[in-house]
Amino acid sequence: MPDNVSEFAYTTRPLTADTWDDFAKLVEANNGVWGGCWCMGFHPEGLGKEHSASQNRDAKQAHVRQGTVHQVLVYDGQECVGWCQYGSPAELPNIKNLKAYSAELTDLPDWRIGCIFTGKSHRRKGVARAAVTAALAAIEEAGGGLVEAYPEQVEGREPQRGAYFHTGTENLFEELGFERDRRIAKWRWVMRRHIQGAVGR
Ligand SMILES: CC(C)(COP(=O)(O)OP(=O)(O)OC[C@H]1O[C@@H](n2cnc3c(N)ncnc32)[C@H](O)[C@@H]1OP(=O)(O)O)[C@@H](O)C(=O)NCCC(=O)NCCS
Repeated sequence: MPDNVSEFAYTTRPLTADTWDDFAKLVEANNGVWGGCWCMGFHPEGLGKEHSASQNRDAKQAHVRQGTVHQVLVYDGQECVGWCQYGSPAELPNIKNLKAYSAELTDLPDWRIGCIFTGKSHRRKGVARAAVTAALAAIEEAGGGLVEAYPEQVEGREPQRGAYFHTGTENLFEELGFERDRRIAKWRWVMRRHIQGAVGR
């Protein structure tokens, strides 16, 4: 195989009413993700003991119906194997370490990268890379702007299980052109990249 051909050929589609079943199948195959969050943690409702897994599922589906969610799904053939959530700060207000984030906040970004997830048997095969790359392409199509991610540092610490990296790893975002802005937890950084919009280039 030539060097420039990836071993893994994924396709991507947005999470919409048409792809909801594919997304739901992946979530259900992974126990609702974190025992039933249904990727609601960053949305305005957030998570909490008062929200059951089925309420989280309904809330997520309501966002899909209303068009208040941006999420790229990654497919291996017909199977949805992962996703990357993104959106405006209003759409994704509940980031981790919000207090530390707000303490040194000067300007909000136009876009945030939220949760990233790859099905357990598909990890370390470039699914998250494909998901974030497609999310950045979608942001470019939508006019671009300042994009923030909140990944975990990998270097300088013990190897961690992928389960702990739900906002992605610093290495991945560095590879995709993001730079450190500030630290908001022992291992979590605000990283930023400016994306020029597709129109007007
Ligand atoms: C973190 C996670 C998204 C990574 O997905 P993935 O598809 O395995 O990642 P990729 O194969 O695209 O990896 C891209 C790069 O990220 C880094 N990376 C990914 N997983 C890593 C890990 N466990 N440790 C260190 N670095 C890691 C590497 O630099 C990797 O590049 P390389 O494999 O060429 O070295 C995945 O482990 C996961 O889904 N964890 C659970 C997160 C979760 O619970 N999300 C819920 C959100 S609602």
